[in-house]
Amino acid sequence: MDSIVVTGGKALHGQIAIAGAKNAALALMPATLLSEDPLTLTNAPRLSDIKTMTALLQSLGVEVTSMQNGKVQVLSSHAMTSTTADYEIVRKMRASNLVLGPLLARHHQAVVSLPGGCAIGARPMDIHVTALEAMGAQIDLRDGYLHAKAPGGLKGAKVPLRFASVGATENVLMAATLAKGTTVIENAAREPEIVDLAHCLRRMGAQIEGEGTSTIIVQGVDRLGAATHPVVTDRIELGTYMLAPVFCGGEVECLGGRMDLVAAFAEKLDAAGVDVTETDKGLKVKLRGDRPRAVDVVTEPFPGFPTDLQAQMMAMLCLADGTSVLEEKIFENRFMHAPELVRMGARIDVHGGHATVHGVETLKGAPVMATDLRASVSLILAGLAAEGETVVNRVYHLDRGYEHVEDKLGAVGAQIERVSGT
Ligand code: UD1
Repeated sequence: MDSIVVTGGKALHGQIAIAGAKNAALALMPATLLSEDPLTLTNAPRLSDIKTMTALLQSLGVEVTSMQNGKVQVLSSHAMTSTTADYEIVRKMRASNLVLGPLLARHHQAVVSLPGGCAIGARPMDIHVTALEAMGAQIDLRDGYLHAKAPGGLKGAKVPLRFASVGATENVLMAATLAKGTTVIENAAREPEIVDLAHCLRRMGAQIEGEGTSTIIVQGVDRLGAATHPVVTDRIELGTYMLAPVFCGGEVECLGGRMDLVAAFAEKLDAAGVDVTETDKGLKVKLRGDRPRAVDVVTEPFPGFPTDLQAQMMAMLCLADGTSVLEEKIFENRFMHAPELVRMGARIDVHGGHATVHGVETLKGAPVMATDLRASVSLILAGLAAEGETVVNRVYHLDRGYEHVEDKLGAVGAQIERVSGT
């Protein structure tokens, strides 16, 4: 298995191009199941999670053509062969559950494996199931699979979500586009990836209002057609690279970055003494003094501080002047990076959903182990600041969500390389 080796202390200068959003693409790709006409996605990220979604869609009979080195994906569901999402693929990636809503909507049936446990928490599917049942679906759990059917098709309904789940909002939104009548999603998630999905579905002919707010109204239509849609910028990759110069000095411009995608995060950076400026190409970031200041962070659904940037922020706060408290409110077990950061000299106490970080002046390189996607990249960031060499092992998590991290950081001056393992 590959490792990433980082030698700390090199200031970063230059530009990093931010890719299309993994989480947006993982919802946009299954939208192809809603139409027999092709869906073309441009600005697609080149990631292993995208390959997993491709394999899942192909197992259902979807034709997927990759062009421009993976940046353009053409998906066509004109000759579907199956409505079953197999455990062998679903277990690799929870977002596989996003085929449930579209399959039910167009084919009136779906069998989708439950994703099973995941390193950062239990992540059940109850909100998806309750919402689709409100639209007339009958769903049973047998042999680890959700067996869903909607004889005669889904019906528009009032669908209140008990929590603003991103995946459940996406599943219901896609399902509602072909349901009979009007669906009102209440307490909908407001993430930019939901807005992006709504824009794409509208290009396909869907009638949607209110995306980006807590109430989304969808008027069902008989069919959806062909569309071409550019995937929105990845706000999590953006936030990650915005932090890079804070660790080791210098100034980095993140191309394609937009303030509206990372407003809550940028506000915390400002409070920590980091300058974020909008340019005509993206966002430029530079630390104001020698060291960031401590800040408290609470993760929340959008527009709050994203849980997917919590690990990276924790790594930065390890080096801050003062004591910070991070509260994780989205996932119950998302501090597994803390003990690894401690191995690099950080001082962190974790109590349930709270982590208290006492800033230290320096971190020291060490061999560390990545336990999930965002944890992996937080260790790479810490390695940029650490004295000596940091070896981040088990980087397959990283490749799920960051394309060519070593090339992107290497191009702005980091000393970083990938070492192939067995
Ligand atoms: C999406 C993102 C993920 C991000 C998360 C929260 C994708 C592919 N992934 O995941 O990167 O960290 O949003 O911003 O877009 N929950 C339930 N029952 C459900 C569904 C969710 O209890 O039926 C709980 C989960 O266990 C979790 C919380 O709700 O604690 C948030 O989950 P959700 O918003 O659904 O996240 P995902 O869509 O899985």
